Amino acid sequence: MFDGKSILITGGTGSFGHLYTQTLLQRYKPKRLIIYSRDELKQYEMQQKFGFGCMRYFIGDVRDRDRLTFAMRDVDFVIHAAALKQVPAAEYNPMECIKTNIHGAENVVHACLANEVSKVIALSTDKAANPVNLYGATKLASDKLFVAGNNMAGTKNTRFSVVRYGNVVGSRGSVVPLFRKLIDEGSDHLPITHEEMTRFWITLQQGVDFVLKNFSRMRGGEIFVPKIPSVRIVDVAAAMAPELPHKVVGIRPGEKMHETMCPRDDSHITVEFDDHFVIKPTIKFFGVKVDYAKNPLGEKGQSVEQGFAYNSGRNPHFLTVEEIRKLHLEAGL
Ligand SMILES: NC(=O)c1ccc[n+]([C@@H]2O[C@H](COP(=O)([O-])OP(=O)(O)OC[C@H]3O[C@@H](n4cnc5c(N)ncnc54)[C@H](OP(=O)(O)O)[C@@H]3O)[C@@H](O)[C@H]2O)c1
Repeated sequence: MFDGKSILITGGTGSFGHLYTQTLLQRYKPKRLIIYSRDELKQYEMQQKFGFGCMRYFIGDVRDRDRLTFAMRDVDFVIHAAALKQVPAAEYNPMECIKTNIHGAENVVHACLANEVSKVIALSTDKAANPVNLYGATKLASDKLFVAGNNMAGTKNTRFSVVRYGNVVGSRGSVVPLFRKLIDEGSDHLPITHEEMTRFWITLQQGVDFVLKNFSRMRGGEIFVPKIPSVRIVDVAAAMAPELPHKVVGIRPGEKMHETMCPRDDSHITVEFDDHFVIKPTIKFFGVKVDYAKNPLGEKGQSVEQGFAYNSGRNPHFLTVEEIRKLHLEAGL
């Protein structure tokens, strides 16, 4: 589906953007793959790795609608990955987070509409479901902007969907690199926020594959949520350093004990498929009734029971310590 097409990824120099680029170039022959981000050094380094003829590098900020609109000329598909995503940084610099994650999202929607981009997927996070921190709240606002973008499309054929997933194993600023650093420095213990804390656990490759597949599944307006395992943070520590004791340091501000991807309050609009959920839009658009329980790949889903929530603490699938160790090895951590 991406052969001969022009694709733009905002935040293309980030962790997701790197692996997405690598995967796309391995599997398809795009006409152009445009990396859109601010920092010239990260782009320079990426050019050393991905210098193929189809690659284009645009310096630009998602806060700059004119630049985005210029970069998206003749683009078929957009992935919106640019974000400020560190929870404490967002609490201390709320307007910066709002400008990038909310105003940036609005600009992406407008630039896509102005250029009649065919399909757009915005990346979201479990922290956007019933948010308790500003980062999550801005991503929820961003999700709403992308869903509503379908309504703004009018007679244009631009379609917007959202992909929401949980902790990417080993991503920058997350618990795995922290534990790794402490282990390498010879720490005599590992800090645990709470003995019962759980998180959804997804590898970056699984995230990239899920986004790629949803370009074929999407009708516009859905929030796609993959079915992925949970881990107990104590098991992550045990997988990485079985010999080290744990010291409970308490839940940090803006953190939850368990994360949610499909909130209970959305159970009336949530559809379950074999390997993912779809949260349907609460508003209607396109002038026709869309049946979100079927997708263009022929997959069929069923409405979940009233009151259902997809929560990391009540996930039927938990990884064992051994499985976590194996997953980390496979992910090169
Ligand atoms: N990592 C996770 O655990 C996780 C989990 C769920 C969802 N997500 C979502 O996945 C997406 C990608 O995450 P990631 O892990 O790849 O993040 P990342 O490694 O921090 O990369 C973020 C990218 O966004 C760019 N960026 C930041 N501000 C920008 C701006 N104002 N204008 C243009 N580009 C900007 C950065 O480059 P410059 O600084 O050079 O501009 C960088 O390329 C985010 O939307 C995040 O919310 C991540």
